[in-house]
Amino acid sequence: MTARNMTTPGDFHDHVYVADRLIAEDIDAYLDRHQHKTMLRFITCGSVDDGKSTLIGRLLYDTKMVFEDQLASLEHDSRVLGTQSGGIDFALLVDGLAAEREQGITIDVAYRFFATEKRKFIVADTPGHEQYTRNMVTGASTADLAVILIDARQGVLTQTRRHSYLVNLLGIRNIVLAVNKMDLVGYSADRFDEIVADYRAFAQKIGMEDFLAIPISGLAGDNVAAPSANMPWYPGPTLLDHLETAPLNDSRMQDHPFRMPVQWVNRPNLDFRGFTGQIVSGQVRPGDAIRVLPSGKTTTVKSIPTWDGDLAAAVAGQSVTLTFADEIDCSRGDVITAADAPCEVADQFEATLVWMSDAEMLPGRPYLLKTGTQMLTATVTEPKYEVNVNTLEQLASKTLALNAIGVVNISTDRPIPFEAYRDNPDLGGFILIDRMTNATVAAGMIHFALRRSQNIHWQALDVDRDAHASLKNQKPAVIWFTGLSGSGKSTIANLVERKLHAMGKHTFLLDGDNVRHGLNRDLGFTDADRVENIRRVGEVAKLMTDAGLIVLTAFISPFRSERRMVRELIADGEFFEVYVNTPLEVAEARDVKGLYRKARSGALKNFTGIDSPYEPPEAPEIAVNTVSQTPEEAADLIVEALLRR
Ligand code: ADX
Repeated sequence: MTARNMTTPGDFHDHVYVADRLIAEDIDAYLDRHQHKTMLRFITCGSVDDGKSTLIGRLLYDTKMVFEDQLASLEHDSRVLGTQSGGIDFALLVDGLAAEREQGITIDVAYRFFATEKRKFIVADTPGHEQYTRNMVTGASTADLAVILIDARQGVLTQTRRHSYLVNLLGIRNIVLAVNKMDLVGYSADRFDEIVADYRAFAQKIGMEDFLAIPISGLAGDNVAAPSANMPWYPGPTLLDHLETAPLNDSRMQDHPFRMPVQWVNRPNLDFRGFTGQIVSGQVRPGDAIRVLPSGKTTTVKSIPTWDGDLAAAVAGQSVTLTFADEIDCSRGDVITAADAPCEVADQFEATLVWMSDAEMLPGRPYLLKTGTQMLTATVTEPKYEVNVNTLEQLASKTLALNAIGVVNISTDRPIPFEAYRDNPDLGGFILIDRMTNATVAAGMIHFALRRSQNIHWQALDVDRDAHASLKNQKPAVIWFTGLSGSGKSTIANLVERKLHAMGKHTFLLDGDNVRHGLNRDLGFTDADRVENIRRVGEVAKLMTDAGLIVLTAFISPFRSERRMVRELIADGEFFEVYVNTPLEVAEARDVKGLYRKARSGALKNFTGIDSPYEPPEAPEIAVNTVSQTPEEAADLIVEALLRR
């Protein structure tokens, strides 16, 4: 099994573990001998033709990581497929998948392992094709170093700028500019200097602190593992020298205050309670004062037990179990920090998002947010701006499409301990997941908490929702009608309200057409506007239930996600979803407002059921229709069901 077919794009953090597992399976014995060595994770990025695969193949070959049988088949393949040089085609070693060879592009991220006498390496080979920003983000998220490849004949390209921007955005500090194919420009020092000067100008613009430029030839091997006799004018290290000595993130993070997100609570028996996780920064020793966030409770570390006895200390990068001197609450997702240097806790942030889904971002839609060991619900605002990675311009934008990068505000459903991504990628990096499809839709980097999230507190009210409801002598509820335009929602809702009113109930009806004249006057019918429409109506309905009312709403509310969002907003047992299941043909034939005719003729865009989707409820509390039932009958059924609950 290769690394490639075990990895899937998606989870920001899991890939490296996949690679770790692989290594464990494939080359156990080898690893044993090299246990004491440090491990450098790096990515290579470049355009399709920059010779990336050839370079990685060359590294593997020169470090003797190609096994004999692989070598034999490589020579065979190179003969069959032919190579420019007539020698071994190193790209074949790397571009393992036939499909990719046919397409001529590398898709998805492939992890490879090799080692020298000094160090072990994991290289994430990320694709150069423009569409695959998301794979690059996946590969770069855990890297200590990035190798940015340039074809010496081409110089700095749009692609180079895009990759450099991303690598810098992802906080990789150690950047190598590998100016490749020097053999094809006559090993010219002038050409090299020209490219480096170009790149330096760009690097300064994006705030990249530093980079190391190395002139190489992946094909001929110059300055890859051995110094080049062809470029005596270059005094610096070879690529491999640099890879062997570059600083690691883990060692950099050791100087930072102690932080460990809790992965699980280990409680084999009543006498032992340990908190297990990976230390993402700093160091810890028995006796250290610690603080658990978000609760803020403090205690001291009692011990760091392992199978082979207790540890005297543990550092960033290590996975350990801690026991505490006192029994304080601490559970999965909490972060254990140094008591005197805790991180911040907040529920609203500014962040950069890299959008990774074909379905564009919907401001206001609840997504799952996964950070460290936590999973929560989060909503995203409209972008403050989108970044054109090629020109670095900030553009106004209402949403983010596949591969777009933008700055947004995010609010989570509960406060989380965090740090700015640039200070601590593990506590400031996150992914967003679509709740319906479970697909990863974005990778994000926290900039800072919004001050309002710290300064707005819930005001305790003396006359609370129970007081309001009991004075009205009723149980508040939201009766949420959903269905196509012209399905009969407003008609039935109106009848239900009359019946409840006649029974002495305190009610209020929020109707789509009416609300869109006032509160939601600024909204149209794009997906994003419909999401916002329902979000606002949900919040208003919630306030009205707090006031003790029975609220009826009549909105198409075409998306399951937002109906679920409102359901979760409203107190348990108070949300009552009514599906008005009138078929499209029937609603269209009635065409009460003449809108279907307009939509069919193309005069009205984004019309639900015609060129905008409707997602029927899967488990509504009650379903009615206006085909086999009269509106009166439907209203009676609803009132009965409501009284029965
Ligand atoms: S929702 O999709 O955002 O829930 P809402 O219920 O508020 O829609 O508004 C729907 C009403 O707006 C329809 O009953 C119809 O009268 C009117 N309308 C105007 N344009 C459209 C459109 N493109 N799609 C659906 N309804 C529209």
